[in-house]
This record gives sequence, structure tokens and C-alpha cells, in this order.
Amino acid sequence: MRIMRVVSSLEELTAERGSWKADGGSVGFVPTMGYLHAGHLSLVRRARAENDTVVVSIFVNPTQFGPQEDLSRYPRNLPGDLALLEAAGADVVFTPTVETVYPAGFATYVEPTGLLTERLEAASRPGHFRGVATVVLKLFNMVRPTRAYFGQKDAQQVAVIRRMVADLNTPVTLRIMPTIREADGLAMSSRNSYLGAEDRAAATVLYRALQAGISAFTEQPAGGSAAVRAAMAGVIATEPRATLDYADVCHPDTFAPLETLDDLHAPALLAIAARVGPARLIDNVVLREDGGWNLGERVE
Ligand code: PAF
Repeated sequence: MRIMRVVSSLEELTAERGSWKADGGSVGFVPTMGYLHAGHLSLVRRARAENDTVVVSIFVNPTQFGPQEDLSRYPRNLPGDLALLEAAGADVVFTPTVETVYPAGFATYVEPTGLLTERLEAASRPGHFRGVATVVLKLFNMVRPTRAYFGQKDAQQVAVIRRMVADLNTPVTLRIMPTIREADGLAMSSRNSYLGAEDRAAATVLYRALQAGISAFTEQPAGGSAAVRAAMAGVIATEPRATLDYADVCHPDTFAPLETLDDLHAPALLAIAARVGPARLIDNVVLREDGGWNLGERVE
């Protein structure tokens, strides 16, 4: 019978790694910040299906939170997470402390540069992707996975990690999985737990805005991407509980803005961020070259 192991020190993780590497099998890795939902579990199940060993990390990474952000109130539920991971088939759960990941004297960061770190999430959350890239590379070095699994919901994070893995020749295959949504279309996020009943109902406005953006995009409006942005922003404006941060049309890898009508040929990323009550929420959809798109899967 498989018994899931929970390790928090590097020594324990190294001992575990010794046994799974000795077996010569593949290792699937799902990095998380905990408070797991169906989106995380879909990554774990995919990792289970594709690898001999499945490792999940739970670490609320302080370096990716700005000084005014929600680090201290970020939701946590380790016992609940462990029960879900056991059922989803994880072999090892790595729960390092802040001191293990950032010991005294820590002084080396991964600094992503270029447009990817200037626009959208990067502009709204200065330093965020430096923290993400640093912790993800550190976790890759600790776990040494064959494959690592991330959700498409964090589209810019995915692009930054892809760039980092290519630029630094990191020996891992990235697997990006579709966004998992509630039955009413809201993208699953640990931060949805901040929403009271009325804000929760209002939060579906992001999904509706994306749908409006897809319709506008496929009509190829004379106003080009400005008209697509306006269609998304217009839907957000109908919801008094929501405040738009950005509604953008850009290239899904470089995040270069698509401006003209000529630019409106796929691949394109429609990306949206809005504050709804106490939560800042993001969502996106990629429009493919064949004219199709994948808004992810709904959990009924
Ligand atoms: O997506 C997340 O939960 C985090 O940004 C990650 C990748 C676990 C790094 O802390």
C-alpha cells in the first residue's frame, strides 16, 4: 500500500530523492502555496498519471508578496491539504519553513527581465515575478523533477517560468494544465475564500468579461484590440462590486500588446484582473491560431 510521506527538512527531502532517483523513474512535481482546490488537484492527478513519483510542495513564499499584499492573511489549512493530496495520489509532500528556503545570509535571486516583467501582473505587483522565479528555481533544484505542473490560470507566471527554464537550461519539462472553474465559471483560486456571498456572486463578472472579449475578438472589430479591451472592460463596469485593474490583449508568450486589427490573429491572450471586494482576481483565455480557445473545465 502506498503511504504518503510529509517532509519539511532538506535532509529528509534529499533522502526521499535518493530512493526515487535510485529507482530511475520519473518525478512529477506540483509546486503550491497550499489551501488546495480542484485546480491544484487536477495538476496532482495529471502528475500521478504521467510519473512514477509525485511530489507536491506547500510553501507560502514570502518573496512573491508585496509589502501591502496579503501574505499574513493568505489562507492555510495543512491538515485539509494533506487529506486531499493523499486521496489524489501524492507520494511526497514537501512543507519547508521560510528558514529552510531562505536561510540566514540568503542573497541570490532570479531576476526575470523584459516586457514580461513590466506589464500587467508585473506592473501591478512589483517584485512578484522575481519572488516566483526565485522560489520555483530553488524548488526545482531541491526536488529535481522530470516534469513540473502549473495551471494556465496564472498565465503570466507560466510565461515567466517557461522563459526562465529556457534561459537557464533548467532540466525539467513544463506541463501547463487548463484552468479549473466553479460551475458558474469563476476560476478556482485560493483567494476566492476571501469573498463573502455577494462578492462571490459578483466575481463571475471576470468570466463574463472574457466571454465578451472572445466574441469581440472573433468578430475582428474595426477598432482592433482596443475594441476587444473595451468589450471586456465594459462588462466589468456593469458590476458595481468590481474594479478593473487591466483588460488586455497580448501575445501569450512574450506579453507584447497586440494593437492593430492586423495583430488580431491568434495566438492571443485575453487577460483580465479586477478587484472584487477584498480579493484581487485574475483570469485569462488563449485564442489559438486555428481560431479555437479553451476556457478550461467547469466542476459541476
Ligand atoms: O502559483 C503558485 O501557487 C505560486 O506562485 C508558486 C508557483 C507555488 C510559487 O510560489
